[in-house]
Amino acid sequence: MKIDILTIFPNMFDGFLSESIIKRAIDKGLVQIKIHNIRDYSKDKHKKVDDYGFGGGKGMVLMPEPIFDAVDDIKTKDSKVILMTPQGKSYKQKIAYDLSKEKHLVIICGHYEGFDERIRTLADMEISIGDYVLTGGELASMVITDSIVRLIDGVIEEDSHLKDSFNDNLLDYPVYTKPVDFRGMKVPDVLLSGHHANIEKFRKEESLKRTKERRPDLLEKR
Ligand code: ADE
Repeated sequence: MKIDILTIFPNMFDGFLSESIIKRAIDKGLVQIKIHNIRDYSKDKHKKVDDYGFGGGKGMVLMPEPIFDAVDDIKTKDSKVILMTPQGKSYKQKIAYDLSKEKHLVIICGHYEGFDERIRTLADMEISIGDYVLTGGELASMVITDSIVRLIDGVIEEDSHLKDSFNDNLLDYPVYTKPVDFRGMKVPDVLLSGHHANIEKFRKEESLKRTKERRPDLLEKR
C-alpha cells in the first residue's frame, strides 16, 4: 500500500515514521508513506498557503490552489482521497479494515482555523477521529495511518489483530505476564492450567463481561 500525506507541518511526522511497527512495515516494504509539504505546491514567492477568509471572522484559511495542485500531482485512478476534519465521519475499526484493503490513500490534513470549502470536493471521504478539535489534521492522520498500517497483511501477526478490541463489537479480554503473583494480584488460575478449551471460555466470558460493563452500546450493535 502507498500512503501520501499532505500537510503544512511535515516535521511532525518524523518520530511517527521512525519508530516501532510503522518503521518496520516501511523497512519491510509493506507500506510506502510519503509526507508532502503543501508549501511546495504554492505558486506564491513566499510559499504562502493560507489567507484571510472572505466575510471576516475566523483567522487564516488554507487556500484551495496548492492543495488541488498537490492532489492532481499525486492522485492516480487507484487513489482514495481522505480529508481529516472534525466534521467528518466518526472513525471506527471497521473503517480501518476497509481502508487497509485500498491500494493508495491520499490524506489531506486540515487546519484548525479552517480550509477553503472547495477543498472538500477533492475528498472521497472526510474523517473525524473524535468529537474534539485538534490544532490540525496531522495527529488525526497519524492515528488513522497507524490503525490502517497494522492491519496490512504481514505487518503484525494476523492472529493478533483478529483478537483486537472492537472485532465483533467486543472489547478485548485481559492478558497477564510474569510474575504470577504481583503485590497480591494473582493471574487467574485458568490461564496457568494449560487447558485450552477452558482458557478460550474464560476469555470469551471476560470479553463479554468487560463490554457489558464498559461499552454496553457495542453489545447493542451485535
Ligand atoms: N482536525 C482537527 N480536529 C480533528 C478531528 N477531531 N478529527 C480529524 N481531523 C481533525
